[in-house]
Amino acid sequence: MPLSDGRLGQYVADGRRAEIQSRVSSLLEQMTLEEKVGQLNQRSVHFVTGTEDEGAALESAVADGEVGSLLNATDLETKRHLQQLAVEESRLGIPLLIGFDVIHGYETIFPIPLAQAASWNPDLAERAERIAATEAAAAGHNWTFAPMVDVSRDPRWGRVMEGAGESPVLGSAFAEARVRGFQGEDLSDPDTVLACAKHFAAYGAVEGGREYNTVNVSETALRERHLPPFEASVQAGVGSLMNAFNVHERIPASGHESLVDGVLKGDWDFSGVLVSDWASFREQIQHGTATDRREAARKAIEAGSDIDMASEVVIDELPGLVREGDISEERLDDAVRRVLTVKGLLGLFEDPYRYFDAERREEAMLADEHREAAREAACESFVLLQNEGDRLPLDPEADVALVGALADSGEDTLGAWSFEGRPEDAITVREGLESFLDRAVPFAPGYELPGEVTEASIEAAVETATDADVAVTVVGETAAITGEAASRADIDLPGHQRRLVEALAETDTPVVAVLMNGRPLAIDWLAESVPAILDVWHPGVEGGPAVAETLFGEHVPAGHLPMSFPSSVGQVPLAHDRLPTGRPAEDAESGYTTGYIDAPNEPLFAFGHGQSYTGFAYTDLTLSTDAIDAGETLEATVTVENVGDVAGRDVVQFYVRDLVGSRSRPEKELLDFETVELAPGERADVPITIEDTDLAFWTADREWAAEPGEFDLMVGHAADDIAHTERFALLE
Ligand code: BGC
Repeated sequence: MPLSDGRLGQYVADGRRAEIQSRVSSLLEQMTLEEKVGQLNQRSVHFVTGTEDEGAALESAVADGEVGSLLNATDLETKRHLQQLAVEESRLGIPLLIGFDVIHGYETIFPIPLAQAASWNPDLAERAERIAATEAAAAGHNWTFAPMVDVSRDPRWGRVMEGAGESPVLGSAFAEARVRGFQGEDLSDPDTVLACAKHFAAYGAVEGGREYNTVNVSETALRERHLPPFEASVQAGVGSLMNAFNVHERIPASGHESLVDGVLKGDWDFSGVLVSDWASFREQIQHGTATDRREAARKAIEAGSDIDMASEVVIDELPGLVREGDISEERLDDAVRRVLTVKGLLGLFEDPYRYFDAERREEAMLADEHREAAREAACESFVLLQNEGDRLPLDPEADVALVGALADSGEDTLGAWSFEGRPEDAITVREGLESFLDRAVPFAPGYELPGEVTEASIEAAVETATDADVAVTVVGETAAITGEAASRADIDLPGHQRRLVEALAETDTPVVAVLMNGRPLAIDWLAESVPAILDVWHPGVEGGPAVAETLFGEHVPAGHLPMSFPSSVGQVPLAHDRLPTGRPAEDAESGYTTGYIDAPNEPLFAFGHGQSYTGFAYTDLTLSTDAIDAGETLEATVTVENVGDVAGRDVVQFYVRDLVGSRSRPEKELLDFETVELAPGERADVPITIEDTDLAFWTADREWAAEPGEFDLMVGHAADDIAHTERFALLE
């Protein structure tokens, strides 16, 4: 396997590559068939904490070399003990990979990944993952099942909180940054972990947003929308990928030969390891594409998947399949070589105990600089959805009342997928406000989580708000109704939170809404009843202070939506890069145009939308040339000016439209973006470079290529707020 190709190979010092490869070859020569298969078997450590028999069975499987990797181990001693069994008891002493879902921080919980993407600042995500890796590695893990790079345009799907939203361009930028953050400079450093881009592929397109559902995407959508962040991860040298649960073209992803062997290991020449999702090898039986466990194991391994997470069909069936010639020795050796190679990259052969240092663990967890980074990340992720009459920022001298149980919930401040995060370590919005203002803030929960109200709870909230100068109401979703297995058919505020907000809006006290959520919500009524809405997502351990700093203007919000907010759930799926139709909505005269009779076509808040306490004006979009040949570049520059009264950060968004193609092309799609910090009155030129490869798509000839023709380049504040458009051509 090529470790010298500058991708996965960049995470190992030059001198160690040959050494790893020869160690792996020599181990392979010594291994029995059973030992090889053991490397492909991943077991969950839940069982150690399960019954005594299950614990003992796992221990003896590890000691017998029947387990290559673990997941879900939490306490350090269990991890060390099992590693010791592998190293000291198993015949060849091959250490274990120890994986864990580190999705947005380990103990220092950062904002959910969707929120981080709202910063449009991939460096922020890289830094967050660097910290997450440092903590996870100090707690005995050497592998994380992240980043999730699934592109999705369906907010009903609970897992959108784990991704970077609807754009393959933004998604690819975040995917690369996260991989670099986890894997650091050198995978053998004790504060780095192997990353895992998941779920390969197109899991974000589950029909109806229903969890674990069928996926039905065209080859074009797969290539243009779903694969790019995976390819970007591979280019960034990600060490592992995870199969998706879903089918593609009615074939489960784990057993999908043309996807795995063809695209991933063939076209992209991926040299890392591919792990199944939880029991997804076995679930081919439920999908109805395998008769039994043996066929499930055969199809997965034959397709090119390597490690069996938790279904144990490989450990049970692969030895027989190889002996009887149904799976070749070469394929088995290829899978085992990949597993051993990543173990070598991690430095596990030299020191299998490098991740179990109690002192380092003590120092790393929730270190001051980690909290500081989590607070900055939270601030950068907030999106000011609307701010009529400049209701925000608030005056710190004003009498503020706080309403909403979410403001007082540590668990929901952290968000879903924060296993090692402790609610008591989270600073809630209520605590953040009180400490910022250095006084008690009158508070009423208003509803019981996730959203039940009573006459009495509303009355108490209204009373609390009535005497105040301003009422801040925190509404939205609990962590538990977001994440895996948390699809929602109704994406309004849960329960009767609406009744509460409407009662508050009827008082004479001005109301500001702080929205906590793991997905875009359909809240057009909220936008009508409340003038200012700050979306803070599930903001992580430092959420409270970040919210306070933003509400009172110490931080100027600069987040922009990575995913459209629909005006009603009936519009879903929707995204900024929709195709034109033969009956454009603008041709309103005929009446037979694309649209609904009871809803607009446009989202409530568009992709890229986000306001500020200042304003930015774009002048002079200039192109260095109006035509390029293949291989040439074009520079586009926009002048940005801060036209408000405070310093702020702007996200300059460039969109493109390919006017005529062999396939219909989106009305606009994100092409590139840049951020710029400007003082009041300051101006800056923001340039981007465009190459013909940036204009490529999956053409009617089924190849990734740019077609000559005309293009509109747009610069805007959001997908629905374009300031300037210039045309250029790509020549024959
Ligand atoms: C999820 C994966 C996760 C795995 C292990 C599965 O249910 O789909 O994303 O990594 O569990 O926890």
